[in-house]
Amino acid sequence: MDELTNEQLSIGEVSRRSGVASSALRFYEDRGLIRSERAGSGHRRFPRAVLRRIAFIVFAQRVGLTLEEIGDELDKLPENRAPTKRDWSRLSSRWSTRIDERIAELERLKMGLTECIGCGCLSLERCKLANPDDRAASKGPGPRYWIGDRPLSA
Ligand code: FES
Repeated sequence: MDELTNEQLSIGEVSRRSGVASSALRFYEDRGLIRSERAGSGHRRFPRAVLRRIAFIVFAQRVGLTLEEIGDELDKLPENRAPTKRDWSRLSSRWSTRIDERIAELERLKMGLTECIGCGCLSLERCKLANPDDRAASKGPGPRYWIGDRPLSA
């Protein structure tokens, strides 16, 4: 097996440190969100700075960004070094809008929760969950937000 340098991590080490499964790391790599080099043995070798990128990906997913959006954001960061405070603050200023949208979405869900669980009609005409503010209709029939669609941007 090839030796790791101090600046390199194996996929198992990245997984252990980040708490992200190796399969998810391979998926992120397939999507171009993170990069590794291959050792002579064929094993992945990640630069240490990848941990910051993974933290970013995990947080961005929780905020509700799609993988495409995350990729666009990561393209704005330096590739294989830890981003500076300035790099991060440029990104986070855009995220506050997204977080506000997410809070508003959750507030709508909270308002509809008791009524809708007791009802179950999922009416496109009157149900806040099936069609909040009529904005979900363009995404197709059914309870769009329950089945995983994200609200349209305001
Ligand atoms: S499920 Fe009937 S109003 Fe939402």
